[in-house]
Parts: sequence; structure tokens; C-alpha cells
Amino acid sequence: MWRNYYSVTSLEEALGLLSQYRAGARIVAGGTDLVIEFERGQRPGVETLIDLTRVPGLDQIAAFGDAIRLGPLVTHNHVVDSRVIQARAFPLAQAAWQVGAPQIRNRGTVAGNVVTASPANDTITPLWALGAEVTLTSVSGERTLSFPAFYQGVRRTAMQPDELLTAITFPALAAHERGLFLKLGLRQAQAIAVVNAAVILGFDGDTVTSAKITLGSVAPTIIRVPACEDFLIGQALDDTVIREAARLAAGVPRPIDDVRGSAAYRTEMVRVLVGRALRALRNGTERDGWPQEPPMLWGEDRGRVRRSLPEMVRHEDDAADTIVTTVNGQTYTRTGGINKTLLRFLREDIGLPGTKEGCAEGECGACTVFLDGVAVMACLVPAPRAHGAEIVTVEGLAQDGELHPLQSAFVEAGAVQCGYCTPGFLMSGAKLLEEHPQPSHEQIVHSITGNLCRCTGYYKIIEAFEKAAERASPAVAAVTDQAPD
Ligand SMILES: Cc1cc2nc3c(=O)[nH]c(=O)nc-3n(C[C@H](O)[C@H](O)[C@H](O)COP(=O)(O)OP(=O)(O)OC[C@H]3O[C@@H](n4cnc5c(N)ncnc54)[C@H](O)[C@@H]3O)c2cc1C
Ligand code: FES
Ligand code: FES
Repeated sequence: MWRNYYSVTSLEEALGLLSQYRAGARIVAGGTDLVIEFERGQRPGVETLIDLTRVPGLDQIAAFGDAIRLGPLVTHNHVVDSRVIQARAFPLAQAAWQVGAPQIRNRGTVAGNVVTASPANDTITPLWALGAEVTLTSVSGERTLSFPAFYQGVRRTAMQPDELLTAITFPALAAHERGLFLKLGLRQAQAIAVVNAAVILGFDGDTVTSAKITLGSVAPTIIRVPACEDFLIGQALDDTVIREAARLAAGVPRPIDDVRGSAAYRTEMVRVLVGRALRALRNGTERDGWPQEPPMLWGEDRGRVRRSLPEMVRHEDDAADTIVTTVNGQTYTRTGGINKTLLRFLREDIGLPGTKEGCAEGECGACTVFLDGVAVMACLVPAPRAHGAEIVTVEGLAQDGELHPLQSAFVEAGAVQCGYCTPGFLMSGAKLLEEHPQPSHEQIVHSITGNLCRCTGYYKIIEAFEKAAERASPAVAAVTDQAPD
């Protein structure tokens, strides 16, 4: 794991540290990729993490005329929630909505997704089709690269060790353009794409005047399909044209062949997805199924940087180094926990074993806690991120000896068998009820896409959520969050 952890308060501090440690350091944003890489021993030689998440102002989505700019701390949930992105870069909103589950979208950033550079990462495909550029900054200056220039192969980019991605910028869709993003995964949530596709077309009446089609998870980087794009220009999207365009898109040379799908399956799925996308654009149904008021599990601050730090906090290689944090309303000072995850810190150093480890990879949700009011997977949060933060664990749900209404409902509905998953479901559910005291069935289901249960079959859990909602009162909203500073 890491030895040094710096929580910076400005970009300048981060750039100074990157310039000092270079290849021995990494920026950490949401940590949803990086912490797993550390856990798997995939970052030998990296001993220093530079945490950006306490720097205010980096989570902004800004529209400048026809351009849209994402700051480096814009999370997937920020994108889902953004009216600007929904209206003017809809394929990106769709891609962000399909990343992981709420707890992953609350921490995972678009910048982190772009830098990780997996060809299966969902936001790269629409950003490439939108014509995005990245701004890379170091102490020596700034440069801007197009996506094709930035990406060099599987998980390889042109970013230098001392550079920080400070912005992603792209032109908003023009009035005559419409687009969409489609993903095929092996399940509805928490699934890496087998194939994903973004299609952006310009129209003059029914005639296609421009076409940008990108495919993910089929080649070492995201690719465009010029044969298909060229064919579409000047055509009206009748069934014959769509069939031929989809066939041309599927002419990917040597697609990826791996455990998630054979090359032949991927080729066929490209044909299916591109055909489906073109039909949706022809029929004007590309926004069908977009969730209304989706549960974000991010509380009243809507995932914005809260509790910024007065000055940089340096946790250096020192066994006596301390983390001072508030858990369930009580302040704790602990030494020696800086190089572990928040999950282990809560269980081993704070002594609260209610938060469970199911997978340690962000997949199961058993470790869900609230970090500064936001539901997150504690197994993906570095423990030093808790310094100066407020955490709520399942032990903090009951108040004044009274169970949380959802806890009572779990007991009444018999929503527990082995109980291992229960703390995670309770945390997701408590946050859902705080946001939506009367959630719809769809909102309940969406809220637990990041939580796995191996015993109950989910029916009793959903019944418990519905029972708790029936008796929802303002008290439900009051239990978890403390007032912001
Ligand atoms: C359970 C689970 C499900 C997932 N599902 C999906 C999915 O469906 N689709 C998908 O696309 N992804 C998915 N992911 C991957 C992950 O959530 C995303 O890639 C995420 O967007 C990464 O962002 P982050 O802020 O967490 O990055 P981090 O983990 O903090 O960082 C990732 C990398 O980017 C670097 N970095 C981050 N920000 C910067 C910056 N500003 N400048 C320079 N370097 C930077 C870090 O040093 C690190 O190398 C999933 C992950 C998990 C654990
Ligand atoms: S999601 Fe954290 S332990 Fe499974
Ligand atoms: S009750 Fe056993 S995993 Fe959910």
C-alpha cells in the first residue's frame, strides 16, 4: 500500500508534490480504480498518494458558449445530475449513469475514468465521439491533447508522471445534432462493458449530415468506424440503410477476445448496438428510459466538496502519524492507520465491526458508509481521507436507543438471513429515504444496485424498504447527517 498520503488544498500543492515524487506518486480522486490496484499489488514503486478531494471548486461542470468543461473532481453522479450535460451532451449522461452503482458514482470521477484508459471505461466512448480534449498541467505549464493523441494503448496515455489532468473540454451538441450511448454488460449494474457505443448524428430534416460513432471494449483504445460514418452521410435512416450501417460498424479488425465475450460475440454485438442506436435516433426515442429523480445516495450536499481543509495535511511514513475523525458523532484520534482502507480502519482501529468486508473490490456494498454525508464503499476509500471528515456507520443509524425505521422494517419483514449484507443495505436504504422519503419501486431497486445479497432473493429487503417508507417521517431525514460547516 501507500506510505505517504497528502491531502492538498490547492492544485498548486498537488503539482508541487507530483514534480517532487514524479513516478513514485499518484493522484487519488475517487480511489475506485487506484485502491483496487494497490490491493492487488499492481502499483509497485508508487508510495505516495496525493488526494485532490478536499480542494474546493474542482467539481464544477461549466458551459462556456458552445463548450463544456469538466473539472477533475466531477463525479459520475455530478454528470448524471447535470442539466447542462443532460441537455447538451446526453450520451455522456447516459454513460455516467451506467457506471457501477450509486456508491461508485459518488466517488468515481470522469477524470479518473479517462486517465485509467481501459478500453472498457464507459465515459471515454461518448467523450471521444463528442470531440473531447484533455488539459494536462504540470509545474512547467499546460498542454491540451485531443483524445486520439492522449490514448496510446490499453491503460496507456501520453500523460507524464508530473502532470495532472485539470480539465476535460468538449463542444456541446449543436442544435441539429442528437446522440446516445448504449452499453452491453453481463448484468444491469456493476458490469464492465462487453461492448459500448456512442452515436452522434447531425440531421437536416431526415437526412444525416454528420456522423460520429465510437466503440468501446473492442480494441486497445476506443475506436471510430469511418466506413460506417461515411456511409451514413447524405442518407435517410430507413431500415435498409440502418442494416448496412450496422454491418459496416461491425467490421472491426480483430476485436478483443476475453472472458467477458469472444471476438465473434463482440462483432455481432457491435452490429446489434449500432443498429439499435440508429433506430432510436431515427425514431426520436433516444431519451426513453432516462431515470426521473434517480437515487444518488449523496445527501443534501449533492456530493460537493464539504469540510475543506485549512491547510495541506501530510501523512508521511511515520507509524505515529494520526488520523482525527468523527464517527457516528464521536471524535477519534488514531495512530498508525494511514496505509489502510477506511473499511479496515473502522473495523480495526475504531473498533466498529458492523461495516462488513464482502469483496474488498467495490462490488458488494457490504462496506457502505456515509463519508461527509455521501454513501461510499469504505473498501475503496483510503483511511487518511477520513481525517477531518465525518463518517456514519451502521452503528450510528439507531438514535437515542430507537432503531432507524428501516432497521425495524427489516426485523418485521424478516429481511435478514445470514445478515452479512444487511449493514450495507441499511446504509443505502437510509440514504435513499433521506433523499426520497416515499421512493418508487424503481428508485428502491436503483438504490440497491450496489448491494449484493446471497440469501434473501431481495424480495424481503424491498418489502422492508416499502414498509419503512410507509411510515417515513421527518425523523428519518434527520438521523444521518450533521449540519455542514
Ligand atoms: C465496483 C466497480 C464498478 C465499476 N463500474 C464501472 C463501470 O461500469 N464503467 C466504468 O467505466 N468504470 C467502472 N468502474 C471503474 C471506476 O469507477 C472508474 O474508472 C472511475 O471513474 C475512476 O475514477 P476515480 O476518481 O475513482 O479514480 P482514481 O481511482 O482516484 O484514479 C484512477 C487513476 O487516475 C489517476 N487520476 C485520477 N484523477 C487524476 C487527475 N485529475 N490527474 C491525473 N491523474 C488522475 C490516478 O492517479 C489513477 O491512476 C468501476 C469500478 C468499481 C470498483
Ligand atoms: S464493496 Fe466494499 S467490501 Fe464489497
Ligand atoms: S442475508 Fe445473507 S447475504 Fe444477504
